[in-house]
Amino acid sequence: MTMIPVANPGAAYRAHREEIDEALGRVARSGWYIMGEEVSAFEHEFAAFVGADHCISAATGTDALVLILRAMGIGPGDAVVTVSHTAVATVSSIDLVGAHPLLVDIDEADFTMSPDHLDEALSTWSGPPVKAIVPVHLYGHPADLDRIMEIAGRYGVPVVEDCAQAHGASYRGRSVGTFGVAGAFSFYPTKNLGALGDGGAVVTSDAALDARCRLVKQYGWQQRYVSEIPGINSRLDEIQAAVLRVKLKYLSADNGRRVNLADAYRTLGANPRIVPPGVKPGSGHVYHQYVVQSDQRDRLETHCRDRGVGTSILYPLPVHRQPAYAGRVSLGPGGLPVTERVPERILCLPVWPEMSDGQRDAVVGALREF
Ligand SMILES: Cc1ncc(COP(=O)(O)O)c(C=O)c1O
Repeated sequence: MTMIPVANPGAAYRAHREEIDEALGRVARSGWYIMGEEVSAFEHEFAAFVGADHCISAATGTDALVLILRAMGIGPGDAVVTVSHTAVATVSSIDLVGAHPLLVDIDEADFTMSPDHLDEALSTWSGPPVKAIVPVHLYGHPADLDRIMEIAGRYGVPVVEDCAQAHGASYRGRSVGTFGVAGAFSFYPTKNLGALGDGGAVVTSDAALDARCRLVKQYGWQQRYVSEIPGINSRLDEIQAAVLRVKLKYLSADNGRRVNLADAYRTLGANPRIVPPGVKPGSGHVYHQYVVQSDQRDRLETHCRDRGVGTSILYPLPVHRQPAYAGRVSLGPGGLPVTERVPERILCLPVWPEMSDGQRDAVVGALREF
């Protein structure tokens, strides 16, 4: 029995092999490998896709978050609010710029930042001044942007969106990444838009922030060999930009296929023992992951494996429980009870655009029969 993987970046390559191979060859033959025409074209195309004025490519999604925070002047002596049920990169990027992470709880149905807990945390926090709020559009589901933007506005704190798992996700018809001052994307190979290696990008419609991100991403250079401010080296390779340009053309169709798979799991695979992922009104979920909950998660995991359906648990340990960060973060009032609970309940099922109908039916069958 061959196991259906949870994600399958190789299938995404094979689906567009000729075009991708052509793009790889084109860059190799060009003799220009860093910050050239492919990067510049991709930045324009991705900004247009998202509906932002600017896109600044970077080496990784982690770097995209770091670029934004540094460009905003956030560092030691500042606090940044985010969640603990996320990829460690969301929190590590805050730590990397020297700011203090203040972590708030999530909504149990869709796993994104709880606006109520955010409000409570901001109203009771007595630590360093909060300079940004970073909601994560986890698994492809937009955070509750109406309420988060309203709360952020009330406290006068800018919002930076972590869109690493949400390429093409929308909220009330508008793409994520355009609500806050900036959005950060990752192009890690398994993402909805994935490179053949690492990659990331910032999107923003703030011209000053765009200019500052561009300075930080390349040694603080405005002019070659003259650093205006301390910077880093975080560039997207030409070769990755060329691959991403091919894959971007298919992103909307690929997201549509993810939504179809999720609809099939939800309806045909309905089972009272399994809670499907919640979708808030107005949310255009793009199912980077299809994450169910169950009181009998471990049994469900074994049941799926026995039927050739691969699964994973994202994330098994909240960031505030991880050795590196346990002593370096603060938690909102009352702690994070939902964040503590969900790792015992969640399971990610296979969802990738090239899945066959037979593979889809195998997942549906595994869900229904549990
Ligand atoms: C929510 C989230 N934020 C940030 C990142 C960081 O992206 P990268 O792995 O490209 O550094 C990731 C990727 O794993 C992610 O899932």
